[in-house]
Amino acid sequence: MTAKECILNRRSIRKFKSDAVDHELLKGIIETASYAPSWKHTQITRYVAVEGALKDKIADEGTQMFPNNGNIIKNAPMLIAVTIIKGRSGYERDGSFTTDRGDGWQMYDAGVASQTFCLAAHEAGLGTVIMGIFDRPIVSSLLQIPEDRELVALIPIGYADEEPAAPRRKPVDELISFLN
Ligand SMILES: Cc1cc2nc3c(=O)[nH]c(=O)nc-3n(C[C@H](O)[C@H](O)[C@H](O)COP(=O)(O)O)c2cc1C
Repeated sequence: MTAKECILNRRSIRKFKSDAVDHELLKGIIETASYAPSWKHTQITRYVAVEGALKDKIADEGTQMFPNNGNIIKNAPMLIAVTIIKGRSGYERDGSFTTDRGDGWQMYDAGVASQTFCLAAHEAGLGTVIMGIFDRPIVSSLLQIPEDRELVALIPIGYADEEPAAPRRKPVDELISFLN
């Protein structure tokens, strides 16, 4: 699989087979994802792999504003919680912000890491979907996320049980402009 094939053929997967995700396979995916770039190489992204009763509790109690996400989480054999260590990305050593973006760079890092994770998973034969719609306080509490960390996204992962077509992309000329 070329990098281009991996990027083009990765789809958001919302139906999974019941097969478990092997923990060593997951560790290999995390190792690949660790090569994602990050602010001053701070590497603030941490992944929590959730299975079993806790995963189902998150689906039941943490997705009431969008139950469809709850169904997807329940259907997946594993849920990855993408978290970040706060106060590093975007910051100087003295605690001040480096740029006018403030702490926005930590979310940027989490996004870069999440997509790298999803591409690495796709290359390893696993489907994923990045989820932003869930009750963050409830899910953070269920996951016992410590004060110095922040929960950013949830990513159900497993073997795909669907082959969705790629949603249409905007034309390139709408996406790029050239200046000189
Ligand atoms: C930040 C972010 C949040 C998303 N949140 C959800 C979500 O809560 N539920 C869901 O089913 N898909 C979610 N998606 C997946 C998008 O709907 C999906 O990427 C988009 O429709 C394009 O489809 P593709 O990933 O198959 O190319 C999210 C994607 C991103 C990047």
